[in-house]
Amino acid sequence: MGRKLLPVLSAFIMLASCNDKTVKEAAPEAETPVKEAKAEKKFEMYEMSPMAALMEQMYVDNMRLRERIIKGDTIGAFPKHFLRIHTTLMTDESDRDLFFEEHAKQYIEAQKRIYIDTVNVKERFNEGVTSCLSCHESKCGGPIPRIKKLYIR
Ligand code: HEC
Repeated sequence: MGRKLLPVLSAFIMLASCNDKTVKEAAPEAETPVKEAKAEKKFEMYEMSPMAALMEQMYVDNMRLRERIIKGDTIGAFPKHFLRIHTTLMTDESDRDLFFEEHAKQYIEAQKRIYIDTVNVKERFNEGVTSCLSCHESKCGGPIPRIKKLYIR
């Protein structure tokens, strides 16, 4: 493989990681947990952009927070590394437009509210998840089914 082909190819794969599940999302609601688990494994082998890695970290942090809320544990403090969403390098930096900045700001505000309004922590948490989705619906469709699993029903 030529030296020039590799970056092109890996950029293509990363774009695919944002897109590959959009098709399935549009299809009628059929849960296929086995297939999805496989797809997630494949994700880990891709070379990620710093933003993709931060997103994965935020996903894990939200998953852990979700468990604590369900159990009724203390929830600690707002994770400051979330603020890096404003500066971390993305696969496609042209994605960092006004829409992105606006939604990133709303997202950070929604996440901070979880730690302020601990009486309604479940509702605030779910609003935090909605704020992930409101950016992803326009910017990165692939992870939407995964993000939806964060909701506390
Ligand atoms: C302001 C927009 C925005 C918000 C808010 C946002 N994301 Fe993302 N997310 C993106 C973009 C853009 C990418 C693609 C990043 C890249 O490839 O560099 C992405 C990528 C991802 C990925 C895929 C990373 C990978 O492995 O390729 C996951 C998972 C993800 N986000 C989860 C979340 C979760 C969970 C939240 C909320 C806690 C969230 N995102 C909030 C824009 C956003």
